[in-house]
Amino acid sequence: MKLLKWYADEGRDLPWRRTKDPYKILISEIMLQQTQVDRVIPKYETWLKTFPSWKTLAAGSRSDVLKLWSGLGYNNRAVRLHALSKLVVEELGGKLPVSEEELVKLPGIGPYTAGALMAFAHNKPGKCIDVNIERIVKRYSFPKRKKEITKKEAEEEFLFLFPKNKATDFANALMDFGSMICTASNPKCDDCPLYDDCKSRGERNEESNERVKKRQTTFLHSNRWWRGQILKALNQGLQTEKDIFAAIEGDDKKSFTAALAQLRAEGLLSGSRRISIRE
Ligand code: ADE
Repeated sequence: MKLLKWYADEGRDLPWRRTKDPYKILISEIMLQQTQVDRVIPKYETWLKTFPSWKTLAAGSRSDVLKLWSGLGYNNRAVRLHALSKLVVEELGGKLPVSEEELVKLPGIGPYTAGALMAFAHNKPGKCIDVNIERIVKRYSFPKRKKEITKKEAEEEFLFLFPKNKATDFANALMDFGSMICTASNPKCDDCPLYDDCKSRGERNEESNERVKKRQTTFLHSNRWWRGQILKALNQGLQTEKDIFAAIEGDDKKSFTAALAQLRAEGLLSGSRRISIRE
């Protein structure tokens, strides 16, 4: 499979990829929610030195848990993890269940995390569909005219694509592929190992150009644009309303007047016949 071949050559070596321990995988996944990989790595390593297992975590104090979590943000993720450790130790015999259905029933474990545990700890296809994987599947399997597909359809397609017995590598490969090649903006289609099979091949550049154009046209002649132009003209030394308006490449007097009045109301300008930026 081309993606797995690419992953073998280009994939990242990350600390949580060297373990199958569901506890450690879960810690990494919770830390990776909304935090960048390179910021997670040192936190993950120190966390595991202090709390190498469910048992040590359950025995830890809340203040130690929060101290180790600091810098990752979203403290309630740490608090929930701590609560989960007590549940695992006291009620589940020290182990997480091994099915997706059982996992999602636990507090703090959603469908993504349950799927990630299946793939990374048990080498089983799991629905670990985050925004990156959803984007990749939609691009790869559906042509542009079918982009309105639902998450459910993307999920079915994703499970269909999972190779038997290679679930861990496949999920890891997609994570890297999404951050290195099939990125949200400016995907690197020229370097893409899946280009020949991709249903959206040739669309990428069009799509990002369209997005840039749209951004530009919405900004051009918007209120924010007029305000920026007025300030620019004042910075260039123009002082009268007439000169300022004449210097701007836009002929909508009404928008100009409104933007000027707004800047005045905000106290940014002084003078009426000779306008200047208030120091
Ligand atoms: N983001 C979420 N899970 C990840 C993982 N296992 N590897 C890299 N990035 C991730």
